[in-house]
Amino acid sequence: MSKKDTQSILDEFKNAPTEEKVKADRKLKVGIIGTGWIADAHAQKYKMMDDVEVVALADLIPGKAEKFAEKWELTGARCYLSHKELLDAETDLDAVSVCTYNRTHAECSIYALKKGVHVLCEKPMCVTLEEAVEMRKAEKESGKILSIGFQPRMNPNMKKVKEIVESGVLGDIYYIQTGGGRRRGIPTPFGTSFIEDQTAGIGAMGDIGCYSLDMVLNAIGYPKPLTVTGYTSNFFGIDPKNYPWHPEYAEKFEVEDFAAGFIRLEGGIILDFRIAWAMNLDTPGDTIIMGKKASLRIPSTECWNGSVGGPMKVYSEMAGSQVCTEIPLLPDGDCFYLKVRSFLDAILTGGKSPVPTEQIIINQAIIDGIVNSAKAGKELTIDIPEV
Ligand SMILES: NC(=O)c1ccc[n+]([C@@H]2O[C@H](COP(=O)([O-])OP(=O)(O)OC[C@H]3O[C@@H](n4cnc5c(N)ncnc54)[C@H](O)[C@@H]3O)[C@@H](O)[C@H]2O)c1
Repeated sequence: MSKKDTQSILDEFKNAPTEEKVKADRKLKVGIIGTGWIADAHAQKYKMMDDVEVVALADLIPGKAEKFAEKWELTGARCYLSHKELLDAETDLDAVSVCTYNRTHAECSIYALKKGVHVLCEKPMCVTLEEAVEMRKAEKESGKILSIGFQPRMNPNMKKVKEIVESGVLGDIYYIQTGGGRRRGIPTPFGTSFIEDQTAGIGAMGDIGCYSLDMVLNAIGYPKPLTVTGYTSNFFGIDPKNYPWHPEYAEKFEVEDFAAGFIRLEGGIILDFRIAWAMNLDTPGDTIIMGKKASLRIPSTECWNGSVGGPMKVYSEMAGSQVCTEIPLLPDGDCFYLKVRSFLDAILTGGKSPVPTEQIIINQAIIDGIVNSAKAGKELTIDIPEV
């Protein structure tokens, strides 16, 4: 995939129409921690809201937050060199967006929650299950909202998946296949923060795999995972020819470019998952949800961009005949705006986190299980500590 292709696909998150929102009677004071690529989308959405003021920015790289403030015309936003500096100095913040690389999601979110600040943390929730447990603890102790940045959930077609499952039309669900990925799409146009262990910690699973898991697990109500058999590989990531502009990135590649997992869920459901940043294949398959009464097929996309690749189909039996019902595709809308707005609305209304950690800890536990099972070379039990 060329640099331009990846950029234009990912830019889809940044430009789209908006929706109605709850109005604050004052401006909410917001900070952005990490002013890299995805922080642009947060700043853009905050700027579209007249009841929000971005008052503080932080980035570890000297001058980066200042440049970001200039680019987004965030006049008056104070700039800091770390999440700690920002949160120690800013005493009347309502919320922060944590837009740092995966490895610092837990540290930044926990520090903010302990300071009494609501947190919208980018996906994946973090890197390990242990970190996810600590984040849950900090959230509970603080009484503040911690929402995880899964904007595809706000997509009307994704909501339709959940509606179809919840309608009961599929009957009892017993097998799910999900995942997807890109033929060539290791995300390095933004530097190496997605591929180095010290910044990313996890690769394709943290970037796009967590979305595939959320799509199906959210639809079926996030049952507990019981066991996992995992596999990970990096054949493309460590090959210099996959980085025409930066062959030296191959040596920095320390995460997985492909992962697969076979997970047993509570309720007798099998979850068969695979995700690729690069592969010699167009797609490792559509998402399918198989039920005793009917099954749903959700066409995959070329790049996991938070949408559905074509009309979904429900396969069932009617009066003894095998039939197939096509579900019309709905316009995608601005799911990134809705992810940010639903977080702020939950703050304003005292509502629940729109993407709650009690669910996403399960997503993280499965990823953690795949990593550990792949290392151990055998099936493992998944135990999620009670928080
Ligand atoms: N929701 C989406 O559509 C989407 C899309 C892309 C990336 N992401 C997620 O967003 C996160 C960031 O991705 P990115 O592409 O913006 O990465 P990036 O490397 O461009 O930016 C991350 C920035 O965070 C800064 N940082 C790290 N730790 C910090 C700390 N403790 N205090 C202050 N600054 C800190 C780094 O210096 C860097 O500038 C990743 O976890 C990624 O998975 C989400």
